[in-house]
Amino acid sequence: MTDDDTLASFVAVPMFEAPAAERLEAGIRDYVWGGAGDEHTLRRNSTAWSERRLAPRTLVDVSSIDTATDLLGMPLEHPIVVAPTAQHRAYHPGAEAATIAGAGAARALYVQSSLGSTPLVEVGRAAAQAATPWLFQLYIQRDRGFTRELVAQAVAAGARGVALTVDTPSLGARDRDKRNQLGRIDGYTYPILAEAPVAADDVPAHRRIYNPLLAPDITWRDLEWLVGVADVPVLTKGNLRGDDAARAVDCGVAGVIVSNHGARNLDTVPATAEALPGVVQAVAGRVPVLVDGGIRRGTDVAKALMLGASAVMVGRPVIWGLTVGGAAGVQQVLEILRTELEMAMALLGAPRLADLTADLLWD
Ligand SMILES: Cc1cc2nc3c(=O)[nH]c(=O)nc-3n(C[C@H](O)[C@H](O)[C@H](O)COP(=O)(O)O)c2cc1C
Repeated sequence: MTDDDTLASFVAVPMFEAPAAERLEAGIRDYVWGGAGDEHTLRRNSTAWSERRLAPRTLVDVSSIDTATDLLGMPLEHPIVVAPTAQHRAYHPGAEAATIAGAGAARALYVQSSLGSTPLVEVGRAAAQAATPWLFQLYIQRDRGFTRELVAQAVAAGARGVALTVDTPSLGARDRDKRNQLGRIDGYTYPILAEAPVAADDVPAHRRIYNPLLAPDITWRDLEWLVGVADVPVLTKGNLRGDDAARAVDCGVAGVIVSNHGARNLDTVPATAEALPGVVQAVAGRVPVLVDGGIRRGTDVAKALMLGASAVMVGRPVIWGLTVGGAAGVQQVLEILRTELEMAMALLGAPRLADLTADLLWD
């Protein structure tokens, strides 16, 4: 079978998982697949979506389905966004450029991780070539001057917004990575943060909490500062609490992303499907709310929108697609989700995104 035949046989996102796992070396596989602690939240992230029941409306004209939306002033064909994930070169030689090409082909907004394996100038170039709008995910660095330069570099390269990750001042208990002694992916570099002044960390692995590339002292003042110095909209990524989300809005953010970092940080926090309603209620429509974690089916996307999200982000499935098929694999993963969302909308009697209201949830 050619690669194209193989790809064509993957008709649902979960079908990418096992072939992707087979292709990756064990340490990298653990890094991508793993969650924190005993992985309770990791399991719940997916099941919390799939356990919700749907209550479709009948006899609605669904001869035309429209998934178009607008996010931060950007018109998008659909609300499925590529979440920021680190080190794409570890999954495919095409690295971030391949992911961006796949996102562009699938007409998806892309979010570039601070821990990517491609310099920001090249990210910008690839995005321009693929006509992919993109945001920059920021880990505030210990050196705030450097952080400010980083944001300016991203904006100069074409980033349309900055998603500040607020849930990672320090590392989670990622047992799999510790066992594999994988502090960072061996042999891979961090070109976006290459100039970051990094203090040597000589704490033995079993006593290590902090990471040299994550500032442990970031506070609300940093968020206010960032909103002030960034020339583009700022979002927070990693909110689970309604009061935190409301405070972020008060600080001037243009959007809030409900996320538990793919269950990689603090085990036993709620699944994002469980946290989303509280954040939506607290934000009260002042800014868009996005959500990620465990989204694997079009019905998951539809449920997130019913619970008040404006868009969803997808992490691991994009890596699976990249691993098995490069840009074409990424495109296919995103297109499957979009198609399943359209199918779900038709069967729910909800031809436009605005029709995806909470009453379509049975429970
Ligand atoms: C391998 C991997 C690397 C990640 N790297 C980052 C990162 O650099 N910055 C960040 O904010 N989130 C990162 N995340 C979290 C994702 O942005 C996202 O929140 C999460 O993957 C969503 O859950 P899902 O994988 O179940 O879709 C990473 C997730 C994975 C799986």
